[in-house]
Amino acid sequence: MSWNDDLEKAFNDQITAEFASAYEYLALAAWLEEHGLPGMAHWMRQQAEEEREHAMKLYQFVLDRDGTVALGSITAPDTRFETPLDVFERGLGNERAITAKINDLYGLVTDTRDFASLPLLDWFVNEQVEEEATMQQIVDDLRLAGGEGHTLLMIDRELATRTEGDEDG
Ligand code: FEO
Repeated sequence: MSWNDDLEKAFNDQITAEFASAYEYLALAAWLEEHGLPGMAHWMRQQAEEEREHAMKLYQFVLDRDGTVALGSITAPDTRFETPLDVFERGLGNERAITAKINDLYGLVTDTRDFASLPLLDWFVNEQVEEEATMQQIVDDLRLAGGEGHTLLMIDRELATRTEGDEDG
């Protein structure tokens, strides 16, 4: 018996959304680097890599369920920002949108009693709590900095220390 068509489509949509996140964060990273903030750019590149890993977790899951992977198209990110705060606010908005999509997917999975998907989706639910909290903290720090050069530089140096799999810098 093949996997449920609605679930297959919803999982594929989530794969595309995660790749779109990675694409968006690469665009944000480029803006930050061009504006003299290599530490923030580094952090955002790491975030892009995490999104790619999220996409690949779902990609492998669809294949493991004997589903078909069908990647969707990705629109070009908008990169008209004035400040690093604008950039991270965009990131936070993106994480909130991803959380909403994960919640919708979770609802569909429970409605269709596809319980085999729950462990993976539980992982994503927890991951989104962390991702939103981390992005929110950076937004809060940047708001406090208020565009003051010295403080921005300190935040930039702190975010430069992020290593793979580490969200806090
Ligand atoms: Fe994969 Fe940050 O959501």
